Amino acid sequence: MQIIKTNNYEEMSRVAAEKIINLVKKKPHAELGLATGGTPEGVYRLLIEDHQANGTSYKQVRTVNLDEYIGLPKEDQNSYFTFMKEKLFNHIDILPENTHVPNGMAGDVNAEADRYESFVHEIGGVDLQILGIGHNGHIAFNEPGTPFDSTTHVIDLTEDTRQANARFFNSIDEVPTKAITMGIQTIMDSKEIILLASGASKAEALKRLVHGEITEQFPASILQKHSHVTIIADEAALQLI
Ligand code: GLP
Repeated sequence: MQIIKTNNYEEMSRVAAEKIINLVKKKPHAELGLATGGTPEGVYRLLIEDHQANGTSYKQVRTVNLDEYIGLPKEDQNSYFTFMKEKLFNHIDILPENTHVPNGMAGDVNAEADRYESFVHEIGGVDLQILGIGHNGHIAFNEPGTPFDSTTHVIDLTEDTRQANARFFNSIDEVPTKAITMGIQTIMDSKEIILLASGASKAEALKRLVHGEITEQFPASILQKHSHVTIIADEAALQLI
């Protein structure tokens, strides 16, 4: 596990964006695994800036997102589908049909989870997966207690996670109670993983991720077993390491 310590959020975003840009230049058909949440927003902004200034092309890139809320229409401001369009896809030359987010409005969400899992395998797996981390150690929406061998599935969001994400909604009551998420095994199958973290509120989680016991009670701890993980985090997030 490599750790890159940056001075601040902006530098964290820049280092991560450079890695993505280098991969896309080297491998135009790259399969990128993308994350939502506040943390990767700066990376996406820098990818857009680079695309506009230097013309880095995403025409052949395919993306698969980690997760989606169940019950929010795609057009809802808080759906991860809309997040990705607004924060990245609408501003680069990626083809809409090459971007993939689980369908949280599917009639049968369990069948949708199975379809998504099969799709990730069909495309040959993810070359580079971007991850954030929840305060309780969740990665994607894999909450504490999720089996390490889980594939894409439907999950009940914990109160803790709903509270943390309530800042994007008008009130906590509007935060969905369920989501479809890539499983921990799905994430571990990625060839390379970059985990981003910024700010003191993530310090305890990063300490447990790097030095803690590997346990399903703290999902991110499994990353200790992945052969190609880079943590890119700012000083504040790394203060306990
Ligand atoms: C959500 C997402 C995760 C993300 C986490 C942390 O629950 N499903 O993928 O890592 O929040 O979000 P933030 O980056 O806003 O702290």
